[in-house]
Amino acid sequence: MATRELTPIPLMQIISGFWASKTLATAVEPDLFTQLSGRGVDIHELRQLLEIDPRPAEMLLSGCASLGLLEKRGERYYNSPLSEEFLVRGKPYYFGGVITLLDRRLYLPWNRLPEAIKTNRAQTWGDQQGIFEAISANPEEQRIFTEGMHSFSVQSGEAVAAAFDFLPYAHLLDVGGGSGAYCIEAARRYPHLRATVFDLPTALEIAREKIAEAGFSDRIKTHPGDFFNEALPKGADVVLLSMILHDWTPEKNWVILTRCFDALPSGGAVIVSELMMNDEKTGPVSAALMSLNMLIETEGRNYTWAEYTQWLKEVGFREIQRLPVESPGVNGILIGRKR
Ligand SMILES: C[S@@+](CC[C@H](N)C(=O)[O-])C[C@H]1O[C@@H](n2cnc3c(N)ncnc32)[C@H](O)[C@@H]1O
Repeated sequence: MATRELTPIPLMQIISGFWASKTLATAVEPDLFTQLSGRGVDIHELRQLLEIDPRPAEMLLSGCASLGLLEKRGERYYNSPLSEEFLVRGKPYYFGGVITLLDRRLYLPWNRLPEAIKTNRAQTWGDQQGIFEAISANPEEQRIFTEGMHSFSVQSGEAVAAAFDFLPYAHLLDVGGGSGAYCIEAARRYPHLRATVFDLPTALEIAREKIAEAGFSDRIKTHPGDFFNEALPKGADVVLLSMILHDWTPEKNWVILTRCFDALPSGGAVIVSELMMNDEKTGPVSAALMSLNMLIETEGRNYTWAEYTQWLKEVGFREIQRLPVESPGVNGILIGRKR
């Protein structure tokens, strides 16, 4: 019998992806990795910690070990280096906020992906209001969203600050800057740099906490405002848009990009930081699936390098430059200069 060249294993990996996702989220929800930090547990201790039966205790530990989240030594399970670095609350690059955001606010709405495909409408964060009106109106939603974005964006901010040379610039304006993660990471790497986080007032309450925790309240300020209804503050010579343009339609993005152009002096630069789609619109997976996530959450999508390049040129930016970046929330930045 001829051997088959293809195997359905990739299909099994895709369709069972939610098993892995839910195992991770179920361990993060009770803060398991924070509790295990530095000490580990055996099955008996996990039973007591989570007040559960031995059968699920053993299965949860095995599931986490199989996914590389725990390591077994003797009868005890310890955080793997990955969990110790990114899943222990209080560590500077804690990633648990993203896990909580995806699990609590996106997992069930993704079950309505077929509905979103049929109706071309978002499926979460309130049905009539826009996403950011719904988030701003509810402090708990604002906290889950902005903490989630923060743990995404400290990683992205660190990667972008390593890739882009801020040395020739004095003042960064982070438009829709959320928790201020990018400004914090840029300030950490470039001691001369000052920064302003521009966002809706409710997001900035959390930004001020994060900026103070990082010890940068003297160098990073906040400026409340709405980028659809008012001009951006002047004074910055580099403007950043991270995960902003994928929230909106091309028409609304024109408004945002024009405001960025108007806010800059000649010689200034704009940075667009996103999970960029390739120009053929076939991937990469991170961008294509984030784009479907934008269908679930917003009126936007993840655009291609070529689409962003064309818009930057149309609003007047020149010397457009593509720079690849590797991080969970960004795979590249596009830079445009104002002459
Ligand atoms: C997807 S988050 C990105 C946050 C941040 N740039 C980051 O990468 O972590 C979008 C941000 O845009 C802000 N935003 C939405 N509508 C806005 C508006 N009309 N004016 C100013 N900020 C807005 C939200 O509050 C939110 O912080």
